[in-house]
Amino acid sequence: MEEAALVSALADRLAALPRVRLAHLPTPLEPLDRLRAHLGAAPRLWVKRDDCTGLGLGGNKVRKLEFLLAEALAQGADTVVTGGVVQSNHIRQTAAAAAKLGLECHLAVMTGRVPRVDPDYNDTGNILLDRLFGAHCVTVDWRADRNAVIGSLMASLKARGRNPYMVPYGGSSATGAMGFVLAAAELLEQAQSLGVRITHIVHASGSAGTQAGLTVGLAALAPEVELIGLDIDAEPDRVRRDVTRVAHEAASMLGMPDMLRDRPITVLSGYAGEGYGLPTNGMLEAVKLGARLEGLVLDPVYAGKGFAGFIDLVRQGRFAADDNVVFWHTGGAPALFAYRSLFASFVVARLDLTQPG
Ligand SMILES: Cc1ncc(COP(=O)(O)O)c(C=O)c1O
Repeated sequence: MEEAALVSALADRLAALPRVRLAHLPTPLEPLDRLRAHLGAAPRLWVKRDDCTGLGLGGNKVRKLEFLLAEALAQGADTVVTGGVVQSNHIRQTAAAAAKLGLECHLAVMTGRVPRVDPDYNDTGNILLDRLFGAHCVTVDWRADRNAVIGSLMASLKARGRNPYMVPYGGSSATGAMGFVLAAAELLEQAQSLGVRITHIVHASGSAGTQAGLTVGLAALAPEVELIGLDIDAEPDRVRRDVTRVAHEAASMLGMPDMLRDRPITVLSGYAGEGYGLPTNGMLEAVKLGARLEGLVLDPVYAGKGFAGFIDLVRQGRFAADDNVVFWHTGGAPALFAYRSLFASFVVARLDLTQPG
């Protein structure tokens, strides 16, 4: 298909999909000039603020939920079911969206994935918000058959006469990825209005829907932009496989199954450290630099490790002087509070109020 025809076909097909508005869009695109100066970087650095999608303290999942929950409503669902770890941003945003749409929300909350946690990890941050949004939580051991637990939750809800809709893990299916196909178009439009030519996008990749949607959107609208997903799960091959699969499913859903032929999928490893949810020195430095140079709030599990990778790639000289490199901030700030002991040493000075001034 010729480029202009492809763009208009994509716009028509996206517009035809059911969508329920939940997010504050467009999210801001902001320069990272103080970070750039600190790093002595030649390329211009930007941040796409998907931590500001609004609903339930925001994050990248709200974009996916606009399409997933529209599908749920179209199917007459009155209840949503999903699963995730205790500090999952996905289940928090799903619980908030369900509250806003008046849907009952049931969460399979998976414990034991992160081996070393703060004493209040199980009660603060995202899980506190899940409860606040009125979600019904059942606890499941991460090592147990999690899918079976979700399956029996669905069955018991149906037996009670409910009509439940299952939101996939991380909101990562072709339907959820549509939110990020649109997000690619949103970013390109913003860049165009600023007169900026985006050359690279870097972000934390996990359950794959974010990268899959951006892959499809960029393939159609700006194939020259390099998309770099950073593995934060310590499972780069699994992430690459999932991004490839979901991106192809999303392209097929849009009636463009051949669009991704020859399109490389880049998932870099090296930023997850010992494993999911475990701290790295790079993450700690990145969280600190983001906060102190740009007023950004990054979390230790996703965006903090993503930002560490972004900073490392800049330091490695991966980008040219005339490049414009975007860090896609996928949110996650509530999890910061569940890791408070990690950040206790960030206090640089204490006021001693017992001494006369
Ligand atoms: C804050 C944050 N960033 C990034 C991701 C990864 O996005 P995806 O699961 O679409 O790969 C997640 C997923 O849970 C997240 O919560």
